[in-house]
Amino acid sequence: MSKTKVKSNYAPFPKPIALLGVMVEGKPNFMNVAWFNRAHMDPNLWMISLNKFHYTVKGIKENKTLSINLPSAELVKKLDYCGLVSGRDVDKSELFTIFYGDSKETPMIKECLVNVELSIDEIIEVKDQYLFVAKVQNIYANAEILTDGEMDLEKYHPILFIKANPEGFYYALGEQIGKAWHVGKALK
Ligand SMILES: Cc1cc2nc3c(=O)[nH]c(=O)nc-3n(C[C@H](O)[C@H](O)[C@H](O)COP(=O)(O)O)c2cc1C
Repeated sequence: MSKTKVKSNYAPFPKPIALLGVMVEGKPNFMNVAWFNRAHMDPNLWMISLNKFHYTVKGIKENKTLSINLPSAELVKKLDYCGLVSGRDVDKSELFTIFYGDSKETPMIKECLVNVELSIDEIIEVKDQYLFVAKVQNIYANAEILTDGEMDLEKYHPILFIKANPEGFYYALGEQIGKAWHVGKALK
């Protein structure tokens, strides 16, 4: 088996992709975000890496809250649009039906079947990016995607993102292929 060195700017893919919601200058704004992940389990802290220049960043610094909204396949065009244009130049607040949770100031998207409301815990500077460490305050999910009170991935079909330089692609989630902490037991 031969190995070939490929471009070293590769990153872990596929990633779920989301619409990040925030209030900026009194108006809801949404941007496409791929670089988010869990940073800590209990408390449930997530990390979100954003370019310092984004209009969204101004809102996060002002309000110390944000939302992560997980879109399903039918929202792919609006998702991409939110990553193509800035709230500095266009109003993205009319694209979705907006609702507010406990914080009353974090815009969330009704059309997304899962919405996560977070508050900023820590901001770390990493060169051109801010790494926002944020605490999950609430998670809202549509009843139709629940099985026994838990979110069921097979019912809400999150969008996955893969970057194949210089382009990137959105994928729908495929079939479940194994149970975590379980299928590997066959090799024990
Ligand atoms: C597929 C895709 C993924 C993106 N992921 C990120 C990301 O994780 N972090 C980031 O800072 N910008 C990311 N962007 C860029 C922002 O979404 C984009 O610059 C957006 O217009 C910023 O909006 P704003 O200026 O209204 O905040 C992504 C864009 C696309 C199309």
